[in-house]
Amino acid sequence: MDDTNVEIAEFTKKGFCTLKDRPGNILAAIPGEKGTVKKVFGKGKRSLYLLETLLEKSNDRVEARCKHFTACGGCSLQHVSYARQLQEKEGKVKNLFSDHQVAPIVGMDDPWRYRGKMEFTFSQNKAGEKFLGLIKPKSRGFVENLTECHITHEWYLEMLTKVRTYWMNSEMEAYNFNSNTGSLQTLTLRKATHTESKMVILTVSGNADFALSKEQLNGFITAIDEEDCAVFLQIKCISKGTPTRFYEMHLSGPAYFEEKILDRTFRMSPKAFFQPNPKMAEKFFTAIKESLQLTGKEKILDLFSGIGTISTLLSAHAEHIVAVEIGKEAVCDARENIERLGIDNIEMYADDVANFIETRGEHFIPDIVVIDPPRIGMGKVAIDFLEKLKPSKIAYLSCNPVTQKEDIEKLPSYQISSIRPFDQFPHTPHLENLIILELR
Ligand SMILES: C[S@@+](CC[C@H](N)C(=O)[O-])C[C@H]1O[C@@H](n2cnc3c(N)ncnc32)[C@H](O)[C@@H]1O
Repeated sequence: MDDTNVEIAEFTKKGFCTLKDRPGNILAAIPGEKGTVKKVFGKGKRSLYLLETLLEKSNDRVEARCKHFTACGGCSLQHVSYARQLQEKEGKVKNLFSDHQVAPIVGMDDPWRYRGKMEFTFSQNKAGEKFLGLIKPKSRGFVENLTECHITHEWYLEMLTKVRTYWMNSEMEAYNFNSNTGSLQTLTLRKATHTESKMVILTVSGNADFALSKEQLNGFITAIDEEDCAVFLQIKCISKGTPTRFYEMHLSGPAYFEEKILDRTFRMSPKAFFQPNPKMAEKFFTAIKESLQLTGKEKILDLFSGIGTISTLLSAHAEHIVAVEIGKEAVCDARENIERLGIDNIEMYADDVANFIETRGEHFIPDIVVIDPPRIGMGKVAIDFLEKLKPSKIAYLSCNPVTQKEDIEKLPSYQISSIRPFDQFPHTPHLENLIILELR
């Protein structure tokens, strides 16, 4: 095939682009650009290309900051100006909700070093070479050995280097999913934006034949060599036919991670969810509070509440809040935070949202419901419940506007009163979208 003047068509939802004359995706390109391309791997629609020569360059192209750009699956939009990234994300929401007004996307003043949590993978190739970093794009698990990353604080790289050096000089093996051999799976790092808190979680295989020895664990703690850092071991047990189970062991430092949001300090355990970009979270949490125009008399139901961050921030402006979260550890964290902050109008339930609704749903009739579900959306039981109970307002926060739209289409009693996207994940194609619904 003649590879001159291949034209780039559109961005995909993963931040790659499609090509005008052939199936497959291309990395690090911008729609409208032309050039010669080379195939990196794959066949047909699974093909992945890279630009070889750029013949017509977009005005929105900028120099990617990171040397791992295109090799690492972390941020696929680094070569696109931040203004164009925001325009693309806003456009995505406008296309989805084309019958409605969409407020301008809220971006970051400085869209770098924003992430409060990263998970890195341990991997080894057939020759035994060791890798610790992020998974390469479309690579089925191959890992890029990261030595720089610009969406995290420099501390993450210091930790990666320390752990990698320790691992290189040890006999420990990366876990291999195919053979269920080896120990090391992932290294999760958390560094707070508004406090000095730090957390390191080493996740290892639950296969007892590859359990780490006490010396190896002590060596890991010594290698980290970090004051006031919470260090945890997480054992991941995978067995056919049963859900994956995790067991945790506190190895050293504080037993929790602490982050401040809008002047309130939240403590959390290793497994609890926390918004990955605290500076942006402050913006969309404030937007929720302002859009709901609370009078102090409202009863609020906070579904998929995590450690109760939204409930806590709304508590001074509401009469009573019931919050539901499936993660038991997150609920324990929430209860401790509520008590420490002296809040007495939040009730936390450790339950599956659908189960909570079916067993206790009728006992608390909310005026307002706040929903912040995982990417798959809120589920049929919650949708039917909202249609039946008819709270006057719903604040629906989502990291997946596609499922958010599908859910809202199943709520005929509600009309959209506002839509506002937030760029929680600069240099990646992801965003956070806040929709306020009002009873018709
Ligand atoms: C996107 S997070 C939102 C957390 C919280 N609103 C916050 O801002 O920190 C979604 C939360 O839903 C919880 N979750 C997932 N499925 C659930 C279910 N079926 N029932 C209850 N909670 C669930 C997850 O554990 C996670 O804490």
